[in-house]
Amino acid sequence: MQIPTAPSPETADAGVQVRPVSGALGAEVLGVDLSQPLSDEAFAAIRQAFLEHLVIFFRDQAITPAQHRAFAARFFELDSHPFVQGLENIPQILEIVKQPDEFRNWGGTWHADVTFQPDPSVGAVLLAREVPDYGGDTLFANMYLAYETLSDGMKRLLEGLEAVHDSGEVGAFYANFKGMRATSGSRTQSVHPVVRTHPETGRKALFVNSVYTSHFKDMTVEESHPLLHYLCSHAVRAEFTCRFRWRPGSVAVWDNRVTQHSPIDDDFRARKGDAGFRRVMHRATFAGERPV
Ligand code: SIN
Repeated sequence: MQIPTAPSPETADAGVQVRPVSGALGAEVLGVDLSQPLSDEAFAAIRQAFLEHLVIFFRDQAITPAQHRAFAARFFELDSHPFVQGLENIPQILEIVKQPDEFRNWGGTWHADVTFQPDPSVGAVLLAREVPDYGGDTLFANMYLAYETLSDGMKRLLEGLEAVHDSGEVGAFYANFKGMRATSGSRTQSVHPVVRTHPETGRKALFVNSVYTSHFKDMTVEESHPLLHYLCSHAVRAEFTCRFRWRPGSVAVWDNRVTQHSPIDDDFRARKGDAGFRRVMHRATFAGERPV
């Protein structure tokens, strides 16, 4: 078995400090004010941290939706969500709203974003606009580690295997969220390799998730289930994850090619039928690329 690579210790470049938050992935980036123009050197250090740590976090960023979009657009081109409308004046920013009487977060299960699309998004920049003092944290998991910790026999079995990713019924994206509005997009399916190679790092990562991956190509759902269930459970083992506690103005930037994420549905007051917390996030989503 290949020994997984550990994150590098704290680094600093162009006034940007990068502090890992777990043994698996994730790093806090300090010394950056995203409301101010970023030098090329500072942005290069941030982009390097993104590639190395897979998800990076910033605190206390007082930025407008336009500044949010501009920061995200320095990484990659942006895309809107196929099924949920963005902000009226800035369609590339998706407002993710959990009302106080809703107990689920939008996307509240382990997944990578929009993998049902032929060119799934490369990542996203998520900004906390309104979050409770506690609750509604987000978990992230490292799909390089998910792949690298498989046995050689399993890696050989997965070589060349492809899987079908299915959006399911489009209504599921907004019907249970009173604060979210539909587009006219329709159900989408795509086939992707089960193991993909990151185009910049050259590392291999497991690319299945329990929300969108429905079955292996040329197999039935029933035939696929045991192995797919194993891979999806293995991928999010606790030791492959980090957990981020939001504050208003916190920002997370993740590489959707090699991570999964899951906002935690822990609003137990709302679950009992009492008033819970409101959680409002703004997401700028990077455009996609074909997984290979
Ligand atoms: C998402 O899946 O993009 C939302 C993540 C979150 O709200 O924490």
